Amino acid sequence: MSHGQWPAGLGPILCVVGARPNFMKMAPILRAFAQSQPAIPALLVHTGQHYDRDMNDKLFEDLQLPQPDINLGVGSGSHAVQTAEVMRRFEPVVDEYHPAGVIVVGDVNSTLACTLVAVKKGIPVAHVEAGLRSYDRAMPEEINRVLTDQVADRLYTTERSAAENLAREGVHAERIRFVGNVMIDSLRFNLRFARTPADTLAASDSDPALLADPNGYGVVTLHRPSNVDHAETLADLLGVLREISSRLPLIFALHPRTRSNIERFGLNHLLESPRIAVLPPQGYLEMLGLMGGARMVLTDSGGLQEETTALGVPCLTLRENTERPITISEGTNTLVGRDVSAIRSQAEAILAGQGKQGRVPELWDGAAAERIATDLLAWLAPTRTE
Ligand code: UD1
Repeated sequence: MSHGQWPAGLGPILCVVGARPNFMKMAPILRAFAQSQPAIPALLVHTGQHYDRDMNDKLFEDLQLPQPDINLGVGSGSHAVQTAEVMRRFEPVVDEYHPAGVIVVGDVNSTLACTLVAVKKGIPVAHVEAGLRSYDRAMPEEINRVLTDQVADRLYTTERSAAENLAREGVHAERIRFVGNVMIDSLRFNLRFARTPADTLAASDSDPALLADPNGYGVVTLHRPSNVDHAETLADLLGVLREISSRLPLIFALHPRTRSNIERFGLNHLLESPRIAVLPPQGYLEMLGLMGGARMVLTDSGGLQEETTALGVPCLTLRENTERPITISEGTNTLVGRDVSAIRSQAEAILAGQGKQGRVPELWDGAAAERIATDLLAWLAPTRTE
């Protein structure tokens, strides 16, 4: 057990978030840092990659995240512009605060950008959710994962397969710590605050009668460029969702990228149905409530694959691959790709009671952030350990 104070002269830890899926990973880490003995001084840096109220502020409130100490305000842009702009604006922050370390989470552009800046300045970097691989380099997130893991110093993993992926890329086992899943820390902490689906529908002026269907309801999210950036693919996916909605009413939380593409491609009519509720991006507590009560979730999100596994709700993942294989081998997840007949038949199977039950994977126990705090102290402030 460690005691006492964070060593005098050792700077704070800069904790970086950029986009929506980062927030639920960082919230438990900040809590664990505050509660650790000694407390680990942390500054929250928000790159501003996501900035809308729906995509950002609401999530901060739901997760009880403190306001960022530093906001880089980068906003949207091409991958090159966004990554470069984060790097340009993060460098002076590192120079000013002389951090003892930088923590990055997940796989968004901000994750890679801040890692590159810090490692080149000799600042230790810890990557939370390291080693996940889809082996699909057409995904921008895969590039971010591979590069971040090559240069970060400490790699905290959520499932054992991650260490095998890292070993294949020549990463030495000494850098890796299997700590479990901070995303599930957030889920377990916040379940008690989850909003009811009826309240969520009412708040967005959707008819709660949709919840009265004897089959229950399904939840849909889609935002991957591979699914939503091409008119034909998007039309096919919306078409099969519309078909499924005749059997199971659907609640669709629409990402801004998807919303604008649906309008651009003239596909609005495919979602116009009393059995489909189209909602704006939802808060964290709304999503927890919606997923928890759902008959099934249809998604291309990384996080939802894990959250449905933790909740025991069947998930159909509309991707050809997943970087989170434990959600398939042990959890409730099934990959259906963009193949409309597979999507249709797997949805039918779930409605027929053949959905996966699954079990909760090892160390998805709500204490991953505490394990990270303990390891970080021993690593960065070793003199404090008795
Ligand atoms: C990013 C992440 C992705 C993550 C997703 C969750 C990368 C490479 N991708 O993708 O891994 O799963 O966030 O949402 O980092 N927009 C708004 N308001 C916002 C943010 C974005 O309207 O607050 C619009 C912009 O028009 C932007 C588009 O959404 O061009 C896409 O946003 P962007 O941050 O580029 O990527 P995401 O698709 O959100």
